[in-house]
Amino acid sequence: MVRGYGTSETTTSATSSTARHLVRLHFENGRLVMGHRQIESEAYKASKKHNKLCYREFSEAPKPDNFLAYIGDLANLFSGASLTDNANTGVVRLGDGRVVCLTETIKGSTVVDPNTLDTLGRFQFSDNLGGLVHSAHPIVTDSDFLTLLPDLINPGYLVVRMDPGTNERKVMGRVKCRGGPSPGWVHSFPVTEHYVVVPEMPLRYCAQNLLKAEPTPLYKFQWHPESKAYMHVMCKASGKIVASVEVPLFVTFHFINAYEEKDEDGRVTAIIADCCEHNADTTILQKLTLQNLRSYSGQDVLPDARVGRFRIPMDGSPYGSLEAALNPNEHGKGLDMCSINPAFLGKKYRYAYACGAQRPCNFPNTLTKIDLTEKKAKNWLDEGSIPSEPFFVPRPVQQRKMMVS
Ligand SMILES: [Fe+2]
Repeated sequence: MVRGYGTSETTTSATSSTARHLVRLHFENGRLVMGHRQIESEAYKASKKHNKLCYREFSEAPKPDNFLAYIGDLANLFSGASLTDNANTGVVRLGDGRVVCLTETIKGSTVVDPNTLDTLGRFQFSDNLGGLVHSAHPIVTDSDFLTLLPDLINPGYLVVRMDPGTNERKVMGRVKCRGGPSPGWVHSFPVTEHYVVVPEMPLRYCAQNLLKAEPTPLYKFQWHPESKAYMHVMCKASGKIVASVEVPLFVTFHFINAYEEKDEDGRVTAIIADCCEHNADTTILQKLTLQNLRSYSGQDVLPDARVGRFRIPMDGSPYGSLEAALNPNEHGKGLDMCSINPAFLGKKYRYAYACGAQRPCNFPNTLTKIDLTEKKAKNWLDEGSIPSEPFFVPRPVQQRKMMVS
């Protein structure tokens, strides 16, 4: 039997206007068996009951009179009570076996039963770290849970760790933002064996947009190219910042992986961090809406993307570089929803799996396997369909590794 827990995201925002659908797959006597259920979040239950959107979602907001009537009053709006708990960005299995669905809002952390897919209730953090949002994609292994808590008041990030069997996040260290006026959006972040890489993207959180009732073009973010872009490297053991470099402007949702580059003596000379990079263009945020997915007219409107490879020098240099890791034409200049074999988390790796593009298209439409050594990609297209994030299944099934989408 194979059971997987992955993010299985369709798109960052196309799914966010609908409640999260959990899917369970397993193989039994050579046959694939599937089950599915809705996560019964407060946002889902309220919209079922009132037959309309009641909470502030990623890209959608209920009309003010609707949800103020539902939520109560303006004070609740600014306390974050109106924010969704619709856990629609990922599913993780903690080291202690609990399965938690997550989203950008901390209140959206929801425990489910992996066998029945029953919603068991909210995952309550027992610490006092507070905050409204966290990274949608924590780093989860059998022994670790690492995530970032952006500080919107005093721009920075707390890097926190939670041990299996507990609900208490402990602070590993803090990163102070170098640009302003608020921290860069951290939908995801990468780690290496010894370091946590904290990106500071010029697409920054906007507290007003986060709590505002009206939808804004960049949702809860603002684009601040003048604030520049940075990459910070924190030592896991000490919590100290060991490198902080300015890098070219970038836009990414999803980091793919990171690893340490070493010299002959085993000293770390640089950190390599890869992401699905949208050429520092925020247009992609509007292109991932459900409305755009459904309104394809044959025009090639998907913005170009690439494997953005950061090189962060560890010798005290002030600048890092950002370049395409392979020719973006290999994957139709479309790229997102990435994954890797989890055995290579934080280590030098060769293959990445993602959704690429076969042009013309309005959405990432291929399942793509990228070979970062040969700098080649294989793309598979099923005409008329859109794949979800490929999910790598590391255990052999009939001696073959698999990918599920
Ligand atoms: Fe995501």
